[in-house]
Amino acid sequence: MPDLSINFAGIKSPNPFWLASAPPANCGYQVMKAFDEGWGGAVWKTLGVPVVNVSSRYGSVNYRNTRMHGFNNIELITDRPLEDNLKEIEEVKKHFPDHAIIASLMVETKEQWHQIIKDCENAGADGFELNFGCPHGMCERGMGSAVSQEPDVLKTIVGWVMEAATKPVITKLSPNISHITDPGVAAIAGGTDALSLINTVKSIVGINLDNYAPYPEVDGKGTNGGYCGPAVKPIALHLLKDLAQHPETGKLPISGIGGIESWRDVVEFILLGASSVQVCTAVMHYGFGIVREMESGLVQFMNDKGYNTIYDFVGKALPNVVEWQDLNLKHKVIAEINEDKCIGCELCYISCEDGAHQAIGLNEGSRVPYIIEENCVGCNLCSLVCPVEDCITMKKVDDGTEQLTWSERTAAGDIPTTFNDERAGGRGHWVPEPTAALKK
Ligand SMILES: Cc1cc2nc3c(=O)[nH]c(=O)nc-3n(C[C@H](O)[C@H](O)[C@H](O)COP(=O)(O)O)c2cc1C
Repeated sequence: MPDLSINFAGIKSPNPFWLASAPPANCGYQVMKAFDEGWGGAVWKTLGVPVVNVSSRYGSVNYRNTRMHGFNNIELITDRPLEDNLKEIEEVKKHFPDHAIIASLMVETKEQWHQIIKDCENAGADGFELNFGCPHGMCERGMGSAVSQEPDVLKTIVGWVMEAATKPVITKLSPNISHITDPGVAAIAGGTDALSLINTVKSIVGINLDNYAPYPEVDGKGTNGGYCGPAVKPIALHLLKDLAQHPETGKLPISGIGGIESWRDVVEFILLGASSVQVCTAVMHYGFGIVREMESGLVQFMNDKGYNTIYDFVGKALPNVVEWQDLNLKHKVIAEINEDKCIGCELCYISCEDGAHQAIGLNEGSRVPYIIEENCVGCNLCSLVCPVEDCITMKKVDDGTEQLTWSERTAAGDIPTTFNDERAGGRGHWVPEPTAALKK
């Protein structure tokens, strides 16, 4: 049996599975039930000066009958009194001394930060998560994602927190920003011990076609909410990768959040640099019991790969995530159709004909399309639209020995590009040189 325990910036947890700060971690009853079911830690629903929440407050994207493909909320921080939450944190710690309780916090003034940190430490919290990511704006006294979007303000607040905290501090970042490493680096300058991401993505999930109110509706009106659940996982993985590959933020422990539902998701987040994971929407959808599948799947994966601890594979996929210009331009695949599996729906034919490279043909009298190899660029579209798993696969047609990247072509003077740091605002994006014709 591999060892699933973690020490996340000094916060010890029997496994990497934590409840995210959200409704499933709203009260002591829920957190104790979750620990009984197998969760190793919980980031308590954000504490602060209690607010009044609206009704209703959740919406979703119903994509082809998957009703919570993406989930959206306009809920603020806790609406329960601080004293009740503190009492319950103390109670949970008494029953589960080896599990991790992280207090998520969002207040306004330096004095309030110092006071709430002291109160939570007295209640027995093992660490803090600073909620700089709620996308709802002003209601929470100018905090929320506004702080993630202002690195200087973020640095100052993290600095206040570090003056008071004797327990580890995690800074939770908002995805609603162009360069996630800007607030990440600011959090380090403020003294944070760790980072977590993502909070929710600013969104409007739909409009009621009778009264023209956005969902979720509050008395005929609506507002932008925070998007989460399976739909945001690709955004979360991308931003996690950015933090984990950065020379400064990559040195800190990172807790991965966003669309995690299964053991596979957990492994993917760990492979891209997370050493704990947090879950909200999947628990709201299916309950605390999903942690059992996560744990058994993770154990099976680690046994199969020969890993003894989580740390044996944290970030193992990072070297394979490269810049576009370092991909091998000589690598070539083309589509192959398995005639035995084809159901003759012609979706591959239609999508390739209208949306790609006219590389699929139809034979009169046969329901199985064929690949026109000389037209196929190996784009993958046909295999993605095909409703039958493994009916269309991509076959490699080079021998893999020859490699040529855009960078190499550039170095050889084949493609005129410069790594134009100045024009990319100091972030080192590749900027194509204007062609000779454009220069004129
Ligand atoms: C209804 C709801 C309430 C939330 N409340 C908070 C909160 O109080 N504090 C916080 O930091 N994040 C809050 N979140 C964000 C989650 O902690 C998490 O970052 C986000 O939902 C992405 O994870 P998921 O895809 O697993 O849901 C909330 C999310 C939802 C859906």
